[in-house]
Amino acid sequence: MAGSKVGTSAAARLRMVFLDAIVFAVIFAAASAAPAQTPVAHAQTNDQAWLSYTVGHERLAIPPPIPPSIHALGNSVLEQSAVREIQLGIAGTTVIAGAKAASAGETVIGTLDEVRAAFRGLQIPAHIAAHGFWLKRTLWRGRPLIIVAGSNDHGALFGAFDLLRRIATGADLTHLDAIEAPAMPIRWVDEWGNANGTVERGYGGRSIFFEGGKVRDDLNDVTTYARLLASVGINGCNVNNVNGAAPFLAPEMIKGLARIADAMRPWGVRLAISVDIASPQKVGGLKTFDPLDPDVKAWWAAKIDEIYQQIPDFAGVTVKADSEGQPGPASYGRSPADAANVLANALAPHGGVVLYRAFVYNNHLDYNDMKADRARAAYDIFHPLDGQFAPNVIVQIKYGPIDFQAEEPVSPLFAGLHKTSEAMELQVTQEYLGQQRHLVYLAPLWKEKLDFDLRAENRAAPVKEIIEGKSFNQPLGGMIGVSCIGRDGWLGAPMAMVNLYAFGRLAWNPNLSAEQIAAEWTKQTISTKPEVVATVDKMLLESWQTYVHYTGFLGTQTLTDITGSHYGPNIEASERNGWGQWHRDDPQGIGMDRSVATGTGFAGQYPPEVAKMYESAATTPDSLLLFFHHMPWTYKLHSGKTIIQYVYDIHYQGAEEAAQLGDEWATLKGKIDPQLYEDERARLEYQAGHAIVWRDAIVQYFLKETGIPDALGRAGHYPGRLEAEGARLTGYKIVDVTPWENASGGKIVTCDASPAQKTCSVEWTYAGKAGRFNITVQYLDLRGGAAHFALDVNGAVAATWAADALFPSNHAGDTSTRFTARGPDGRGIELKPGDVLRVEGAPDASDPAALDYIEIERDVSSAENSAAKVP
Ligand code: GCU
Repeated sequence: MAGSKVGTSAAARLRMVFLDAIVFAVIFAAASAAPAQTPVAHAQTNDQAWLSYTVGHERLAIPPPIPPSIHALGNSVLEQSAVREIQLGIAGTTVIAGAKAASAGETVIGTLDEVRAAFRGLQIPAHIAAHGFWLKRTLWRGRPLIIVAGSNDHGALFGAFDLLRRIATGADLTHLDAIEAPAMPIRWVDEWGNANGTVERGYGGRSIFFEGGKVRDDLNDVTTYARLLASVGINGCNVNNVNGAAPFLAPEMIKGLARIADAMRPWGVRLAISVDIASPQKVGGLKTFDPLDPDVKAWWAAKIDEIYQQIPDFAGVTVKADSEGQPGPASYGRSPADAANVLANALAPHGGVVLYRAFVYNNHLDYNDMKADRARAAYDIFHPLDGQFAPNVIVQIKYGPIDFQAEEPVSPLFAGLHKTSEAMELQVTQEYLGQQRHLVYLAPLWKEKLDFDLRAENRAAPVKEIIEGKSFNQPLGGMIGVSCIGRDGWLGAPMAMVNLYAFGRLAWNPNLSAEQIAAEWTKQTISTKPEVVATVDKMLLESWQTYVHYTGFLGTQTLTDITGSHYGPNIEASERNGWGQWHRDDPQGIGMDRSVATGTGFAGQYPPEVAKMYESAATTPDSLLLFFHHMPWTYKLHSGKTIIQYVYDIHYQGAEEAAQLGDEWATLKGKIDPQLYEDERARLEYQAGHAIVWRDAIVQYFLKETGIPDALGRAGHYPGRLEAEGARLTGYKIVDVTPWENASGGKIVTCDASPAQKTCSVEWTYAGKAGRFNITVQYLDLRGGAAHFALDVNGAVAATWAADALFPSNHAGDTSTRFTARGPDGRGIELKPGDVLRVEGAPDASDPAALDYIEIERDVSSAENSAAKVP
């Protein structure tokens, strides 16, 4: 942290200048914004996430309990929030057997100076680093005293939440004496909200900030959200999309933004916005937006002043420029530093910062140019500018060189800027990682990036220390979590909230382990029972690699539909277009050659030791082999397997692992909140089915391409699977699917909803052995209506269900969904040779009740089947 000798240098002083400006602004703003204090909305509901304080009604107060006389030593808004939060947190706690409730003593919240003045003679730490806190339990005049002291009032608020976290996670407070401070000053979430209420890459409903082209009238959700953010140490929130940001600088909108800032202020979360670099022209009506034009500079200075008049603690701006269609300084032959510095100069007098995104690349690359490489762009553009950025500019770098992929290397740019503050950008929203429909705990992925040692200047330089400003002695730095929350339970799935929690905790302290964070979250959110914590944490920790296993492989990225929804499989979507997410597969081999010797040279952007490792296939870790090298399908990995056999094996393994997640969750039945249990059970059942869709798409695509059979005979063979297109069809029509790998056999059947035809049906005659079977129907849950299905056996209805989920697109790979029918006793359905199985589909609106296949699998859980030992 910044306390080392190096930290007292000019860089550290600069950091303090900005922090002090921030502190001043917060105090000033807090004083002027008192009416905005909104009481915390109804505790104990989902919107409280990990702050419900009543986990499964099993809440314990660990001895010794907190003295219930809780008060603030100062009168800052943040200290008042801290007091209320501790009161809320300990209300209704039960005292564990043997411990006496505290009826005397006090719990005090204040700044270090306030504590020093109030308790003269008490031994108090001389100094706590910026925004840090000291938690202490002691005796004062013979009575218990708990001190929550911050380096400032913001630190005190973080301390209060930390105290509550300790209680909720079962820490013993008997000898409480802890000092903590955030590792980095910038800990922001970016929300990507649009003025019309939609949220770019948001999977949790409409924006809590905007609707109908303006800021919403009701901002209670914003305050509740800010409380969640503050509880994990987040201190900034950028509310609008990085794309199309110009309207947010209109005077009316700034007034609305000021209301958002008011709503977040009681929790110390400062407002930031994304700005469009062309705003001087688009909003200001100037002829140009050239950053070096004097009128443009003046316009920005005046606009930033206008913002600060209404939002005195405004945190700063984020810029996406010259990227994916957004305007930028390149239009005038100017550099990102030119653009960033104009904004930085306007913000500096107010203590604001510029987060300039390094996500700048040409999305019209030539696929046939073997030297073209999107991965190179950030380093090629930003490395030469090192030293040219103003001190309050932070270059915001996505963790990998491409785009939030499930597996890609760390961006080499982290080691390419020694004279510039840097922040790591990651996604809490699971754009490429299952869009909250798949359980994926992201902390292990982020930890891998944070801990990666780039060996800059041939010495230890883990990414986390670079963004802390430590490695190259930079004043600012941090982590940005693109969260994209909405009104539907924030992220749209209760379990996904672990990622928001983990983001905050890692930005506070990147040395925390993914295991520790998972355990903390589970104890605060689901249960403190050890067996529940163990099961949930195991599931969380397995989930990222499980997702990787059934999606992409060996560094090819996720092989999703990169030009569309970014959700289901679409292998060719990344090829032969200008977006540069290529994997260059052909019948002989696969992978991008990014070596210096024969490829794009990207590997050479890393510092020498890392560059050397990636330069050769032999020393590149298997998990990134195809990111760096084009290899024959028959190349043997370090494990001794050929690439193609690995592709088959890992996808079968991944689909099994996904199914196991559901099995593990099933062991929690009756032990956790029933609503959460059922919600997640249904999600995991869907995920296990979608993992099979992914598995089959990738396996059948590469089997066809390579013609190399699976040594274990699985690829292309689906015992028990009966295709719809091979059945007796009434009304249904056979349709080719694009891309073909998204349906079994490349075909589905659809029922045209002509008025004369209310339903269609598919019929098979069962020819296998007798026994009990689970019957899975693979159907497509298309948008635009809720089709209904019925499965019957010999005319008797076995199950009915509706296709009423909403998926991101109508691609077969996005919508392909499983329904598994069992008998009324929960066991398999009895079948014997000659039985007639029939699925009837009733289309609705534009949902044509599409079907892919049914799969008949022995119910191995059924006693009679196990006894019969069917092969
Ligand atoms: C991804 C995402 C876009 C977003 C972009 C960005 O490509 O799909 O929606 O605008 O990242 O980070 O700017």
